[in-house]
Amino acid sequence: MAVPLAEFCRQLPKVELHAHLNGSISSATMQTLLKRYKNRLEREGNETPQLWETTILKGEKRALADCFLMFKMIHTLVNDEESVRIVAHEVVREFADDGVVYLELRSTPRANPATGMTKHSYVQAILCGIDKALSECRTTMHVRLLLSIDRRQSVAEAMDTVELALAHVEQTPHHTRVVGIDLSGDPTVGDIPALLPVLHSAKERGLKLSLHVSEIPQRNEETALLLSVCPDRLGHGTFIHQEAGGSPELEERVLAMKTPIEVCLTSNVKGQTVSNYENHHLPLWHKRGHPIVICTDDKGVFSTTLSEEYAIAGETFFLSQEQLRQLASHAVEHIFEHDLKNELLKLSDV
Ligand code: IMP
Ligand code: ZN
Repeated sequence: MAVPLAEFCRQLPKVELHAHLNGSISSATMQTLLKRYKNRLEREGNETPQLWETTILKGEKRALADCFLMFKMIHTLVNDEESVRIVAHEVVREFADDGVVYLELRSTPRANPATGMTKHSYVQAILCGIDKALSECRTTMHVRLLLSIDRRQSVAEAMDTVELALAHVEQTPHHTRVVGIDLSGDPTVGDIPALLPVLHSAKERGLKLSLHVSEIPQRNEETALLLSVCPDRLGHGTFIHQEAGGSPELEERVLAMKTPIEVCLTSNVKGQTVSNYENHHLPLWHKRGHPIVICTDDKGVFSTTLSEEYAIAGETFFLSQEQLRQLASHAVEHIFEHDLKNELLKLSDV
């Protein structure tokens, strides 16, 4: 008898390639962080904050702008090295519990002079949390990290992030966890033409690139600019395909470049850039044989898991368990850690 879909998707060895660290915090970890934050405020004699909304429950939706407000609130709680370590540890553990065998986390290095956290120590704290989680992991799991450039950052700040990533690669040449750069942040802001040389430089110096593109409508010009950097993967790409409001030229260009698209179903539906699951762009690309990778984006904020995203894809687009297994297996081809591909392909072939 066939295994029920939800259980099949949980057991499937999966790779997660698009997960923002601070968007991936579960509600259990959020409670821990809130308690820590309140204790600290009380110790300092400050008023305790009201409870904030940092997750969008099942069946609910929010404007994209409100999702970005949630990230701001989360950043208030994740404001020192210890909280960053806690978050990285819990997020990795939860992905492992969900059957993820290879995880590429991404996060925007942040400094906070009030707690002594620097961008460098922020990254160190993430690496420390990852190591702790992996040392406790009962199954084999691999984790890599992309450093994110926020679209609203200046060229100097973006360049600092590239230098930080390269410094990590240089310090740990044979076992580096930092493998690339992500471009993310509120898609309605930022000076993309100014950031292009930074992205080019990252690529030329050996870092992989995953760029959020076409997350909102009518950004064809910006998307064309970002494609000119030859990114290794695209995040969302919601409005590229001509049937999704893009253009035939952009669609053909992406098809010719064969650049994999990281698709995040629940994120797009709850953030309201896509009206419902049925109208998602996943099948438009899938039926043209273009590589897509199912991802969560922000499993905490959007209250989902990678297993659930596979199950939703299966149910919505009538994909068989064999087709879902193939999607998971093909995702391995698009990981940024080339040396692990064979090992992971063997896992997903069972
Ligand atoms: P962090 O980089 O670990 O702090 O994760 C949260 C950050 O990820 C947010 O502040 C955004 O910059 C970015 N992010 C999360 N989800 C999205 C998305 O859907 N689009 C663009 N940026 C996002
Ligand atoms: Zn994202």
